Amino acid sequence: MKHEPRTRAGVPARPPAPVPALRDKHGRTISYLRISLTDRCNMRCLYCLPEEGVALKSHRDILTLEEVLRVARVAVSLGVTGIRLTGGEPLVRKGLVDLVVGLSALKGLEDLAITTNGTLLAPLAAPLKAAGLGRINISLDTLRPERFPRLARRHLFTEAADGIKAALAVGFDPVKLNVVLVRGLNDDEVLDFARLTRRPFAPGLGAVHVRFIELMPLGESAHQAADLRVTGQEVREWLLAAGELIPAGGPVGNGPAEYYRWVPLINEGEVLPIGGAGTIGFINPISRHFCSRCNRLRLTADGKINPCLASTLEIDLRTALRSGAEEDELAEILRTAVGRKPEEHNMGAGEDDELRRMSRLGG
Ligand code: 5AD
Ligand code: SF4
Repeated sequence: MKHEPRTRAGVPARPPAPVPALRDKHGRTISYLRISLTDRCNMRCLYCLPEEGVALKSHRDILTLEEVLRVARVAVSLGVTGIRLTGGEPLVRKGLVDLVVGLSALKGLEDLAITTNGTLLAPLAAPLKAAGLGRINISLDTLRPERFPRLARRHLFTEAADGIKAALAVGFDPVKLNVVLVRGLNDDEVLDFARLTRRPFAPGLGAVHVRFIELMPLGESAHQAADLRVTGQEVREWLLAAGELIPAGGPVGNGPAEYYRWVPLINEGEVLPIGGAGTIGFINPISRHFCSRCNRLRLTADGKINPCLASTLEIDLRTALRSGAEEDELAEILRTAVGRKPEEHNMGAGEDDELRRMSRLGG
């Protein structure tokens, strides 16, 4: 016979009360936390950061990795099943591999991912994989080495490409590339990116998945995003002029992208990679709101909860973390933040002039 667990008094212990899921006022369940590990970045993408004079947070305001792990633990206890590490550039953060070890041990966490610019990834891909990281997204806005410094203001194309190769070589699957098109700068590369999904990224390696992300009025592009943005619809038309888009389930992930496989009208002698072609995804936050399906919260590097990328609302968690708050107090703050999640954003409507940067909010 199976014995029920008993308390010391011999009374059968009650099973722990189920923790109510994080639900917001608009009926959405929050199951995904994006954690910005740093506001620092080794690049200066022109739509994100200014060339010079980036005001950085003081190191003592940035959460320690122990604090990050604590927040993550509380979030997972409340039903968060997916975590993505972002920045700035998360790979500049010392101790990242240890953090991944700690996060991947959290019971209930099903999906642990990172978004990086890839330039520091080559030596870290294998250790991150061994530490339990599940998935990697890499931002890459051009396939032309000579163009890279104009977009990223750093000569790091080779490093980025090596990072992508390393991610594929150590077996990350899927590897997704995030592409932000900027009118007049890289919008002529749509077909090159599409072709990339149909061939090995490098000899002996698989293919990447490519996602086109509409430029949002954040950071440096706050004031000019409308002029510089290439809409998902435009990209779709260019792809359709040269091929077919076949709806695809899409690679594993949490996001709001719509996925297709692109098949060219004219076969240029392609040899599909082992494992088949990658997909093409569209992330259209401006032309098609996906707010009604939003399942996420963000933790900024300095310990604030931001319930919506498009809002300046931030709920302070750091003060509680540093003044000895118990887990249930931290949980309460997370619930409050969820309770204040706006129903939808109006980015693009009035082209908000707030300088909310991805390097702070973490995408
Ligand atoms: N609009 C759209 N995407 C942006 N990113 C950074 N700033 C913006 C913006 N203003 C992207 C990066 C990266 C991801 C985290 O967010 O290129 O892929
Ligand atoms: Fe570019 Fe990302 Fe760094 Fe911003 S945070 S400068 S988008 S690499």
